[in-house]
Amino acid sequence: MLKVVKHPHPALRYESRPVSRIDDALRTTIAEMFELMYEHRGIGLAANQVAIPYRFFVLNLTADRERRGEELVFINPEIVKRHSTFEGEEGCLSFPGLYGEVRRARKIKVQAYNLRGEPIEVEAEDLLSRAIQHELDHLAGKLFIDYLDPATLKSFQEKLRDFEREHRAAQTEGALPSDAELKRLLDEA
Ligand code: NI
Repeated sequence: MLKVVKHPHPALRYESRPVSRIDDALRTTIAEMFELMYEHRGIGLAANQVAIPYRFFVLNLTADRERRGEELVFINPEIVKRHSTFEGEEGCLSFPGLYGEVRRARKIKVQAYNLRGEPIEVEAEDLLSRAIQHELDHLAGKLFIDYLDPATLKSFQEKLRDFEREHRAAQTEGALPSDAELKRLLDEA
């Protein structure tokens, strides 16, 4: 049963490894990730947000499970072109309730593989471009809070400390393994 992990779970700072096989197990995982994303009303979810340390993510800008035609899957994605920049508000399912302005490339070209293992190339702009860059960052262990201006980051501090307290409390109660154990699980996954 997959679960969205929250800050400061070590999976969020983990550098994901490339996917080597696109098979039914991966397709099942991805279907579960879409369900979880819709449950949380998100538009994107990266594998390491469910503690899977591999390079793939799912997106549906509509956040609506009735609109499956809008679902996008990126496996082993790479940005091959970026053009101009723009600012916009971002949030993240691993930081519920927090939103801040982030500067991103406005237009990008991305190469990846789809669920059938075929190479795809996607040209994206505006919200799609932003969402892809946000999810791609996750795969490298980078988070939207890394881009915030100091005033916004300061306004996040109380909430971030709450998340940290929840994480430690779950570990103390035995509901979550220690950070060292979580890292070992990621290394061995
Ligand atoms: Ni996110």
